[in-house]
Amino acid sequence: MRVIVERDFPSVSRTAARFVARLVRERPTSVLGLATGSTPLGMYQELIRMHREEGLDFSRIVTFNLDEYVGLAPTHPQSYRRFMQQSLFDHINIDGRNTHVPDGRALDFEAHCEQYEKLIDEAGGIDLQVLGIGADGHIAFNEPGSSLGSRTRLKSLTAETLRDNARFFGSIEEVPRLAITMGVGTILESRQCLLLACGQAKARAIKETIEGPVTAQITASALQLHRDVIAVVDEEAAQLLERREYYREVERAQSLLEAGEISKLLPHKS
Ligand code: GLP
Repeated sequence: MRVIVERDFPSVSRTAARFVARLVRERPTSVLGLATGSTPLGMYQELIRMHREEGLDFSRIVTFNLDEYVGLAPTHPQSYRRFMQQSLFDHINIDGRNTHVPDGRALDFEAHCEQYEKLIDEAGGIDLQVLGIGADGHIAFNEPGSSLGSRTRLKSLTAETLRDNARFFGSIEEVPRLAITMGVGTILESRQCLLLACGQAKARAIKETIEGPVTAQITASALQLHRDVIAVVDEEAAQLLERREYYREVERAQSLLEAGEISKLLPHKS
């Protein structure tokens, strides 16, 4: 896993946006997997800025969101569809027909989840999946104990997630108890993953995700099995990482390589 430690939320957001923008420029028909939550918000703002000021073109981009609360209409203020419209889609030139968020009001959940997987397949699979992380180490809504091979399905949220997400609702009682979420297996099939984490509350989850054992109790740890994951985290989220200095060293080497200065990395001749 490539680990990039940035100073704070704004620099995490800019770095993450650069990865997304590079792909959008290189392959204007890319399929992006998108996440909700407060963590990717700064990245979305930066992408909107790039669209407005640099002409970053989303007209042929296709998106699939990770998850949606069950029981909320797409227009509900806390639905993830509404979040995506307000935080990104309404401000860029994406074709609404190319944006997909699971439908929290689907009547036949099983059929809807199957159809969602099929749509991802038909689009050619996800090129880059953006991920946040829950304080308990979940990705999307794959709560601890989720099968690491799981597919898009209905999931009950844990008491911790309900508590964490209550801040967006009037009270904890208003937080939906169920969600439709891509599975860990679905996420692992994307070609590249971009994991973002900011703040002290995520430090334990990040430590276990990156340096702990692969376990269904921390579903993000399954990303260790993926061949192309970039974790962009701020200092606070990185504070428990034991190999922080090594990750920085790798990034310094990476920058030299990108600048064509490989000679600086070779042993000195005596
Ligand atoms: C929810 C979402 C996750 C997200 C997590 C963290 O559980 N389903 O996709 O990663 O919240 O959210 P935040 O970025 O607000 O901390």
